[in-house]
Amino acid sequence: MIQFDFNYFMDEFIGSEHGIAKKDIDELAPQCDAALKRMDDEKAKGLLGFLELPFAGSIVEDIRAFKATVPWCDTVALIGIGGSALGPQALKNALADIYLNELPDTDRGTRCRAYFFDNVDPGEMQSLLKIMHIPSTLFLVISKSGGTTETNANFAILLDAIKKHTKDYKKHIVTVTDPDKGILRQIAKEEGFVSFPVPANVGGRFSVLSAVGLVIAEFLGINTYGLLKGASSVVQRYYGNNVWENAPLLNAAFHYLFDIKKNKRINVLMPYTRKLYLFADWYRQLWAESLGKRFDIQGKEVMVGLTPVAALGTIDQHSQLQLYLEGPHDKVITFLKLKGFGTDIQMPQFYKGKQELEYLGGKSLRKLNEFEEQATELVLKEAGRPNASIILPELDEEAVGQLIMFLEMQTAYAGYLYNINPYDQPAVEQGKRFTFGLLERPGYEDYKEKFVKGYVKKDSYIL
Ligand code: PA5
Repeated sequence: MIQFDFNYFMDEFIGSEHGIAKKDIDELAPQCDAALKRMDDEKAKGLLGFLELPFAGSIVEDIRAFKATVPWCDTVALIGIGGSALGPQALKNALADIYLNELPDTDRGTRCRAYFFDNVDPGEMQSLLKIMHIPSTLFLVISKSGGTTETNANFAILLDAIKKHTKDYKKHIVTVTDPDKGILRQIAKEEGFVSFPVPANVGGRFSVLSAVGLVIAEFLGINTYGLLKGASSVVQRYYGNNVWENAPLLNAAFHYLFDIKKNKRINVLMPYTRKLYLFADWYRQLWAESLGKRFDIQGKEVMVGLTPVAALGTIDQHSQLQLYLEGPHDKVITFLKLKGFGTDIQMPQFYKGKQELEYLGGKSLRKLNEFEEQATELVLKEAGRPNASIILPELDEEAVGQLIMFLEMQTAYAGYLYNINPYDQPAVEQGKRFTFGLLERPGYEDYKEKFVKGYVKKDSYIL
């Protein structure tokens, strides 16, 4: 089971000016209990689908049955954005192989190559189209709402390419979307595309354990049952427990207290393996979109939010760490550590007789990673900078499933402590409306007009 080591969050290690005291957590217990109750109430109302996904493994059999019908597929291309793309990319890097696409066929085996179309970028689109072999590619069009402009723009271009390069374009397209609503569901029905559902009560950024993540995971040789098992063990272990027995709630409570008592609103997630770096990206969206809110649930203006930052050890020791150590006291750092890397490499004898180099000979790369991480914890501690660790026993499906559910529950609890709705994202809608207006989508004419009036700049302010 993953562990949460919060020693260096505590005042007894980093001092009372920056650290949290046990009594601070004890005093927050009534709010934590209210958070537990709110989760219970919302779950009972069927609003929290993300907590049910680990127990909904039957979808895996449907995905496997479908996979067996496309033996020609050696590449999957995901078209989606935000919650419909970040989780799948994180799964690929953590559990398949960062360099999966470059592996020789003999090493890649039956695992498919994977490409991701998750941005609006003509240059990137052109580069990807140059290297992809469309006749052996399955395109996963993922959009919970079906109405996302970026996804639909990429789908439009790729659909055209698929039609040009295949005999039966319909065989090359799988959709993942709301079970009933939205234009993607409608065209999936009309075209007869294979389709998997994203349950209506699961929001985009909480959807990685639904078909959003599981379809691609199956094509990448990831053990999806292991993912779900890991996630379910976190729900079973922590759900409903009081704050001292509930690691996701405790970590939410720490972040809340660091904000309101210690003025620390920057939240760094720093894995010590590149394989988990995209998890920091996934988490950045989860945390930012869920917790950055103007109004609380009573409609009072609160403007809360913690700014998530992704960092990577050891690389960021040579980049961001100087700032973390000597810059403003405004950050809370969480390391993602692996107990086992599943492999190790010994350094060979290295320039014997040269003191500056020979000490490396015979040392292990895995140990060096551990020493560097521990040294970073210590220097941060000595500088009074709060830092904690989430420790994964190994980088395998169960641990990653646990990590996903841990961070999702933590984010939900944090939203409850701030008394906001962590599941909506009202502010980003306005920008979407202006874009629709500019694209002359019927019904959005007013937004084009508003845009033209509002988007005013002085040439004299542009040098
Ligand atoms: O968390 C969310 O709901 C969003 O970030 C969505 O994932 C993102 O906007 C993409 O939406 P959709 O899946 O509807 O295309």
